[in-house]
Formats: sequence, C-alpha cells, structure tokens
Amino acid sequence: MHDNRMRLTPRLRTIMKQVPQGTRLADIGTDHALIPSALLRRKRIVSAIASDIRTGPLQSAARTARQFGFENEISLRLGAGLRTVKPEEVDTIVIAGMGGETIAQILQNDPWALDGNHLLLLQAMTAQAYLRQYLAAHGGMIQTETLCREGNRMYTVMTVRGGGKQIEKTLSDCCISDALLCDPLAADYLTRLLNREQKICASLEAAQHQKPDELALHRGNVRALSNALEQLGKE
Ligand SMILES: C[S@@+](CC[C@H](N)C(=O)[O-])C[C@H]1O[C@@H](n2cnc3c(N)ncnc32)[C@H](O)[C@@H]1O
Repeated sequence: MHDNRMRLTPRLRTIMKQVPQGTRLADIGTDHALIPSALLRRKRIVSAIASDIRTGPLQSAARTARQFGFENEISLRLGAGLRTVKPEEVDTIVIAGMGGETIAQILQNDPWALDGNHLLLLQAMTAQAYLRQYLAAHGGMIQTETLCREGNRMYTVMTVRGGGKQIEKTLSDCCISDALLCDPLAADYLTRLLNREQKICASLEAAQHQKPDELALHRGNVRALSNALEQLGKE
C-alpha cells in the first residue's frame, strides 16, 4: 500500500525525517498512529508505542495498525502523556500536534524524558516560546529546530536532548532559538512572528484599559525578533 494512503502531510514528514534509524519510538498523542506506521513501513524504527489519552484516537490508531499489517509491531497504550511508557522501553519520543503548554506539562509529569538518554521530537502548535522556556529551565537542549510550510501555515519541529544546564530565560528570549536561525525558512518565519507581535502591540497600545505587563512582554518580543532578523540579514 502506498504512503499517500496515510495522508502524510509536510509537517508529519518533517517530524519523521528527524527520527534516527533503528530507534525504539514512542508517539505520544498518536491519534491515527500515522508516524509509527509510516516509520515501520520504511524500516526506520525497530519498535513503536502509540499512546493517546482518548479512546477514540486510540481506536483510529488500531485501525491504521491493522490496515498496514502492524498489529504486532505497534503497542497501543491508553493514558496521559508519558505515564504509559517506561523509560527503558524507548529511545526516541515524539510529542506532536499539541499546544506547547500541554507538551511542557507532559514533560513535567515525567521528568525522565529529559534525563539525557532520550531524544525528544517536539512539535508545538502554539506557545512555542513557553515550551522553549520550560526546556531551558529543565536542562532540555534544542539541538535542531526545523521549519516546514504547510499551506499558509509554518510549523517548527524541535529535536531536544535533556541533561544540559538549567537556564532561566524570559519568554521574549524564547520567541526564537539559536537552532531555528539556521533553518533556510527562518527569515520568513521570523517576519511573520514580528508582524503578529507588532499588531498585538498596536492593539494593546490603543486599548482603553492598559495592560502594562502584557504590553512589556510583546514589546520585548518585537525587540528580540527584530534583532534576530537583523542578525540573519548580516549573515
Ligand atoms: C491534534 S492530535 C495530533 C496527532 C498527531 N500527533 C499529529 O501530530 O498529527 C492531538 C492528539 O493528542 C492527544 N492528546 C492530547 N493531550 C494528550 C495527553 N496529555 N497525553 C496523550 N495524548 C494527548 C489527543 O487525544 C489527540 O489524539
């Protein structure tokens, strides 16, 4: 059966490309188990855990596993975050398609994920800065941050390993990562973020009831993004 039948979007393909050959994978929030199934088809991984907090998505995962003949290869687990996985069962953990705050909460509930023995592939739909801030404060080192375009949207996929120094950063420090600046799409992505932050600042400045903390945060973001874009322009 062809991979296209799996509806592999550019976002999913970008995540899959970061998975090392021969790894034991856990896909947390797996939904249709597309990532584990596609990676097993490519013989890229040796085992897969597909885990989800809800029964509906896990039933979809079971259907995909059956459809592609991976009933024995994919271990289906029902439960929250990494509660369903033992640290020694996996080397690589994918957590994708959720908000950055949910991803950070999952990592907080099971700190072993940042012990340095596991590679994390994190793809946050929102609150990326919050997730980077959490990672910095808990020794999570962002090794690469890859951008991809899907229709009108852009997504980032972080590869992260724990065991680093714990660093307190502001949210504005975390609107970008050094790793992200290496991506060829970085200028486009930063420009979008900067436009959005400038609009938020303008509307906060025009509001009748001032929110000084919020305004200070978004002004900080505008400064950080402008500096990063300037730095990119010089390279
Ligand atoms: C939008 S889908 C993303 C599916 C797939 N990972 C992707 O990137 O396309 C989010 C999935 O995460 C699951 N989910 C949300 N919170 C979760 C948690 N705390 N632990 C495990 N799964 C969770 C949802 O039930 C849903 O199936």
